[in-house]
Amino acid sequence: MIRVGIILGSTRPGRNGEAVARWVHDLAVKRGDATYEVVDLADFELPHLDEPQAAASGDYRHEHTRRWADKIASFDAFVFVTPEYNHSFPGVLKTAVDFLYAEWGNKAAGFVGYGVDGGVRAVEHLRHVLAMLGVATVPAQVTLSYWTDFENGVDFRPAAMHEDRLGMVLDQVLAWGGALLPLRA
Ligand SMILES: Cc1cc2nc3c(=O)[nH]c(=O)nc-3n(C[C@H](O)[C@H](O)[C@H](O)COP(=O)(O)O)c2cc1C
Repeated sequence: MIRVGIILGSTRPGRNGEAVARWVHDLAVKRGDATYEVVDLADFELPHLDEPQAAASGDYRHEHTRRWADKIASFDAFVFVTPEYNHSFPGVLKTAVDFLYAEWGNKAAGFVGYGVDGGVRAVEHLRHVLAMLGVATVPAQVTLSYWTDFENGVDFRPAAMHEDRLGMVLDQVLAWGGALLPLRA
């Protein structure tokens, strides 16, 4: 079975991202069609980029980098759960992406964005960055609104329509993730 990492891209205390990632994970595992795992950036505690060599070299000097690389290398595809911060995705997520290179490449990714405007600008920026790393980003995406999908801006109560949309994202991620397996073999 394809292994899908659900990357939780915010680390802020009190973050909404945790409930969103849990929602993605719970709906995904019910499908029974892949292995799904939440990858919480808060568990990896990556510093500001501190590797002397570019990630493309694969020459990782630090234990925190090797641990992060091993985790990302273990997946065939990803779902990025990202909020929008100042019209982009969080810096902590950019750093986590920048730490690695080959571990991302020739894999598929889908997106669940959230924020005042549904996280659409954050996801667009993230697509742009991942293109450089050879990640195949699927067209469907989930856009969750701070106003209508989070009661009082904090209690996650997603509208029913988002379940269908998440299903589309996962369908595409699995299809493309599967298609890319032979390329990496
Ligand atoms: C530093 C910061 C900047 C934000 N900037 C934007 C923004 O530019 N556009 C937007 O739609 N929402 C913005 N928001 C709202 C967040 O997307 C929303 O609060 C979301 O729940 C934050 O994710 P988190 O709770 O997982 O940290 C911002 C929130 C924070 C904390």
